Amino acid sequence: MTYAPGNVRDAIIGYLDACGGEASTKEIHLAISRRLSGVASSSVRSYLNLNTPNLFERTGRGKYRLKLEAYEEASVSRFPSVEVGKATLYQCDCFDWLSQREPQSVQAVVTDPPYGLLEYSGKEQQKLRDGRGGVWRVPPSFDGHVRSPLPRFTVLTENDRLQLQAFFCRLGYLLGRVLVPGANVLVASNPLVSHVVASAIAESGLEPRGVVIRTVMTMRGGDRPKNAHLEFSDVSVMPRSMWEPWLVFRKPLDGRVQDNLRKWKTGGFRRLSAERPFGDVIKSNPTPASERRLAPHPSLKPQAFLRQVIRASLPLGEGVVLDPFAGSGSSLAAANAVGYESIGLESDAQYFELAQASIEKLASIPVQQVNPV
Ligand SMILES: C[S@@+](CC[C@H](N)C(=O)[O-])C[C@H]1O[C@@H](n2cnc3c(N)ncnc32)[C@H](O)[C@@H]1O
Repeated sequence: MTYAPGNVRDAIIGYLDACGGEASTKEIHLAISRRLSGVASSSVRSYLNLNTPNLFERTGRGKYRLKLEAYEEASVSRFPSVEVGKATLYQCDCFDWLSQREPQSVQAVVTDPPYGLLEYSGKEQQKLRDGRGGVWRVPPSFDGHVRSPLPRFTVLTENDRLQLQAFFCRLGYLLGRVLVPGANVLVASNPLVSHVVASAIAESGLEPRGVVIRTVMTMRGGDRPKNAHLEFSDVSVMPRSMWEPWLVFRKPLDGRVQDNLRKWKTGGFRRLSAERPFGDVIKSNPTPASERRLAPHPSLKPQAFLRQVIRASLPLGEGVVLDPFAGSGSSLAAANAVGYESIGLESDAQYFELAQASIEKLASIPVQQVNPV
C-alpha cells in the first residue's frame, strides 16, 4: 500500500511522541501499521533514515526517538514523588519516567501490569468507581464472601494481541535501558495472555528465564456456557484457573555470572537459606481481606507472596527494585518489609494517594513465613 507523502512520517512522529522515548524500527512499524494498514516496513525504515538527524535521533542499532530539546533536558525529578521508608513513589506514566531515568541504574523489576490495557484507563476506572461495570465485573459472592472486581476478558482479538505485543515490547526496550546487566525482571501475568507478553518482552532483548508459578485459586474459568448452562451443565468453557504465572526475564549478563555479580551485584536469585534455593512454585492464597481493607485496590497482591519474590530478586540484597505499575504500593511495602530500596511508578492520581497511605501499613503487617510447596 502506498500512502501520500508525509503520512508515514506523521504517523512515526505521532507514535514516537506518544512513546516519549526510543523505539525500534520493528516496533514503530507494528504501531503505525494499525493506523496505515499495509504500510511496508521498508517505507518506515527509509522515512527514519531520510529524517535523521533533523527530526529523529538514532539511539542504538535500529532504534530511534524524536529529536526534541525537551527530551534532552528532561529528568525524572520533574514528576511528583514521595518517600516512604526506603521506597520512592512517583506519580507519572511509567513510559515517560523510563525514557528519562538514568541508564543502567535499576537492579531488579517486580511488577503486575495492566492486561486488558483498557481496564486502567481513566474512563474504565471512573465506571468502576461509580459501580457502573464497564470492563470490570464483580464475581458472584458465595460462602458469604464478597469478591473483588475482575476485568472481563476471555478471548483476545487480533487487534488486542497486536496492542499487547506493542505495549510489552516497548516496555521491554525501556526497561532494558534502565536495567544493569544481569538484572531480574518478574512480570505477573495470566494463562490467557502470558504467551504474547513473553514473546513481546523477549523480542525487546530481555532473556526469558522461565516462570515462577504462584499457586492461587483465581475467579477465572470454570464457568458453564453462557445462556446455556442448564443444557450443558457438565461443561466448563475454560479450565478453572488455579495458578498465576510470573514471567521471569534477565538483562543479558556482562561476562560470567560471577563477574556480573561482582561488578553489578546482579545475575542470580537470593537463596532462601544455605540449603534451599529460591524455587519456581510458590504456594499462595488470594489477598487476605485484612490487606484489602488497608489498600483497597482491585488488583492488590498479597504481602506473603510479594515479600518472597522481591527478596529473591536481588541476589546479594543490594540495589533498587522497580515496580513501573505500582498500584497500591504493595510491592514497595514488601521491599520495605525485607529492607530493600525500591521505586514505584503509578499514573492514576487516586492510586498514587492510596499507595502513599498504604505502604507503611502493608509493610508492617506480619505475614506467615515462606511457605514452599
Ligand atoms: C494491575 S495494577 C497493579 C496493582 C498492584 N499489583 C497492587 O498490588 O496494588 C496496575 C496499575 O498500573 C497503573 N498503570 C496503568 N498504566 C500505567 C502507566 N502507563 N504508568 C504507570 N502506571 C500505570 C494502574 O493505574 C494500576 O494501578
